[in-house]
Amino acid sequence: MPVIAVIGGQWGDEAKGKLVDLLAEQAKLVVRFSGGDNAGHTVINPFGEFKLHLIPSGIFYPQVKCIISNGVVINPAVLIDEIAKLNERGVTTDNLFISDRANLVMPYHLLLDGLEEEARGGKAIGTTRKGIGPAFTDKVARLGIRVGDLLDKEVLLERLRFALNYKNAILTKVYGAEPLSLDGIYQQYCQYGERLAPYICETTIILEEAVSRDDLILLEGAQGTLLDPDFGTYPYTTSSSPLAAGGCLGTGLGPTQIDRILGVFKAYSTRVGEGPLPTELKDKTGDLIRERAHEYGTTTGRPRRCGWFDAVAARFSTRINGFTDAAITRLDILDTLPSLKICVGYELGGKRINYFPASVAALEKCQPVYEELPGWQSPTTDIREPKDLPSEARQYLNRLEELIACPISLVAVGAKREQIIELRPLP
Ligand code: IMO
Ligand code: MG
Repeated sequence: MPVIAVIGGQWGDEAKGKLVDLLAEQAKLVVRFSGGDNAGHTVINPFGEFKLHLIPSGIFYPQVKCIISNGVVINPAVLIDEIAKLNERGVTTDNLFISDRANLVMPYHLLLDGLEEEARGGKAIGTTRKGIGPAFTDKVARLGIRVGDLLDKEVLLERLRFALNYKNAILTKVYGAEPLSLDGIYQQYCQYGERLAPYICETTIILEEAVSRDDLILLEGAQGTLLDPDFGTYPYTTSSSPLAAGGCLGTGLGPTQIDRILGVFKAYSTRVGEGPLPTELKDKTGDLIRERAHEYGTTTGRPRRCGWFDAVAARFSTRINGFTDAAITRLDILDTLPSLKICVGYELGGKRINYFPASVAALEKCQPVYEELPGWQSPTTDIREPKDLPSEARQYLNRLEELIACPISLVAVGAKREQIIELRPLP
């Protein structure tokens, strides 16, 4: 049984949670490896509808161990609330394990995320304001406080005193804000530590054991490839790597240990927050997609920007992740459209280009070059077999497969677990 990484191929919200919930039925381990509670993974299954931000989407299967690994930044208040809400609805979290190496989101990270965004003015990134950027900044600056520090109150106090001195200077001297109280945060984080202690452990051993038993392991990506700080639309990106490679650093698995990499793409494009979206539709079709698909942020409620499928961006995504399989989700949203466009190139300064430019300034000037395909104009939500797909839908998927340069294994035609068409076996 392989290790499969489930990776967002676009700008996030590709329905990674739905696929992980589905694939986890056969898995022994599901690991969230990057991001934080900026992620919003919607899962609809026999337990009901859930919006998960930190807990892996495998949590609904008691036989599946779920790990929040070192690469995630954890806001303990959000995690404790998520655990409580699952438990209230009859979902056990006895199978949850939290890496002692994961960094914590602290109250000053939340404040600074807001203050930094306001200071950027018209150049704001449109972050989720969950403190994610400031928490990853501190991790790299070696000012972070880690989950394991919660287990030793002396260490916690020492780390917090050191960090807070510095953070209070920034809050008061740079932003003219009020300083935060050491004692208040310390007491609060001691309580969080007591609540989370049963879950905290060395998670690489659990992974190693599962690998050696040849168990099916899923790495649950958060965000999407084009929000990667190296390869995405920098600076309009998030602060940790959503790429498959991030699944190695974020868990402690070696690069040779990931067997399959499933790139998840919506059948169209969406983006929430600022930054370029070359195929954005600011017209009735964009509104229609948004309303049919209820494209509003799971974490912030913001309306998502919608557009046609961008195959230039998707091809780039395959290249930098090494996708072995693709999943196309939300195909049913396109069911009513008379014709569909796919972006197959850009026009930049009078020239045709076929690559995804590094520079946001260039991307903003890119005009999409479209190919137009006929729509199928019939419902796909009840289809389970590839042969039952309308020929136009088949044609659309075949063209996407060619352009993405990766075989499509799964097609989702609705939010429910069973609304899936399997084209190739996975795993
Ligand atoms: P899932 O896992 C979509 C976006 C934010 C903003 C940028 C930076 O549900 O796919 P951050 O708070 O991370 O500093 O914000 O990244 N963003 C997401 N967009 N889906 C997500 O997660 C996102 N997580 C962050 O909107 O543009
Ligand atoms: Mg989401």
